[in-house]
Amino acid sequence: MAGAGPAEGAAADVLVVFGITGDLARVMTFRSLYRLERRGVLDCPVVGVAVEDWSVDQLVARARESIIGTGEPLDEEVFARLAARFSYVGGDFTEPSTYERVGRAIAGKELPVYYLEVPPGLFATVVGHLAEAGLAGNARFVIEKPFGHDAQSAQQLAADLHEHVDESQLFRIDHYLGKMGLEEILHLRFANQMLWPLWNRDHVDHVQITMAESFGVEDRGHFYDPVGALRDVVQNHLMQVVAATAMEPPSRGDVRSLKEAKVGLYHAMVEADPAHYVRGQYDGYRSIEGVAPDSTTETFAALRLEIQNWRWEGVPFLIRAGKRLPVSQTEVRLVFKQVPYLGMLPRDRRPERNELVVRFDPSTGVRMVVDARRADVAGPAPIELDMRFADEGGEGPTPYEVLLSAAMRGDSTRFTRQDGVEETWRVMQPLLDAAPPVQPYAPGTWGPAAADEIAADVGGWRSPWLPG
Ligand code: BG6
Repeated sequence: MAGAGPAEGAAADVLVVFGITGDLARVMTFRSLYRLERRGVLDCPVVGVAVEDWSVDQLVARARESIIGTGEPLDEEVFARLAARFSYVGGDFTEPSTYERVGRAIAGKELPVYYLEVPPGLFATVVGHLAEAGLAGNARFVIEKPFGHDAQSAQQLAADLHEHVDESQLFRIDHYLGKMGLEEILHLRFANQMLWPLWNRDHVDHVQITMAESFGVEDRGHFYDPVGALRDVVQNHLMQVVAATAMEPPSRGDVRSLKEAKVGLYHAMVEADPAHYVRGQYDGYRSIEGVAPDSTTETFAALRLEIQNWRWEGVPFLIRAGKRLPVSQTEVRLVFKQVPYLGMLPRDRRPERNELVVRFDPSTGVRMVVDARRADVAGPAPIELDMRFADEGGEGPTPYEVLLSAAMRGDSTRFTRQDGVEETWRVMQPLLDAAPPVQPYAPGTWGPAAADEIAADVGGWRSPWLPG
């Protein structure tokens, strides 16, 4: 069993990326490192490790083509600074000799961050070898989802890792925690006297969370087919959205208090009920490469969650997520209770319910829907008060930049803790154990018709707030 690892807040002096020749590096990591370099935030060597027998020049060439491939404009001076940081170690991840070479590549460094861009089945292998080579004691380990495929495997994965390193050394990435929108929800909720008193069961009728993607599974069939929408985005990303929307204010500003508040919310969540779970699969999914011809994997999930605590009892949290839907849009929407009868209005007319929307993607913003009387319309009608953050503050860092630099700085605020991971699996587990049959839907629609039943008693799913 390992010691306590490096101190919170101590800066790393080398970044080692295992699996640097893979897809994640190509699509995300090189670009993030480049952008960190451009902002002057990166200040240590970067060692790439992978099985290929590459030279450092090949690594630099891959970095260049990857960054350009993401559409990022390349400034040669910035890139030259980044390229000068690179070195490369080739070797098999199961061979002790690979780790001897890694040891030589980082000789003299005191606080490495190891970023494991390898399949989860190899996490414990790499961590174990690093520990045996004496390279793990004062290090951090950044790992990527999936953290297990159910409650039991998530526990097993953690147990395997904890054999070699302490929980405080593990930085589990959920890139939703790097998105600006999540921090904004927390701030919005607790920093505004106009809002916080309303954020509870006295005023909120229900909450709708939509993560719609207009694109399909495309070339990710091999990855996606054994996973499906529930495991891919609901158990992790959307449960982070639920937490930010529903958790109590942290008792203090430190990392531990924040995580306690979040896990406290998860503790209060009731295991999801398969009777309120609809699974859909878009037509054409089964002909994607890597997808089984008789696959029953869901590309759409709609479900209903319950939080049994003082603040939220009786307020349904409705979630829907899917691929090949009409738009790409992620938002959380609080739908408030209806006001009582208003004598100024005809007997059969009630003002519309207020709504508050926080949008994460494709851009961030807040919308309030209020009922108002306007001079140009006869009678009251809902109006929208919109605030688009991009119009106000310019472009922020991407989630991976935020998370990588936080891992380097030793700030674990935006990383998930094992007890939180296990709690979210606990909530989802009944849906995995008693998954209803998958139902087909046409690409470009809002999933199978049965998804409407999930929201039937709350007036249906609201159309998302589209950019524009
Ligand atoms: C990933 C999932 O974790 O998140 C993808 O594997 C999904 O299937 C993606 O498309 C969504 O992320 P974002 O940041 O584009 O909302």
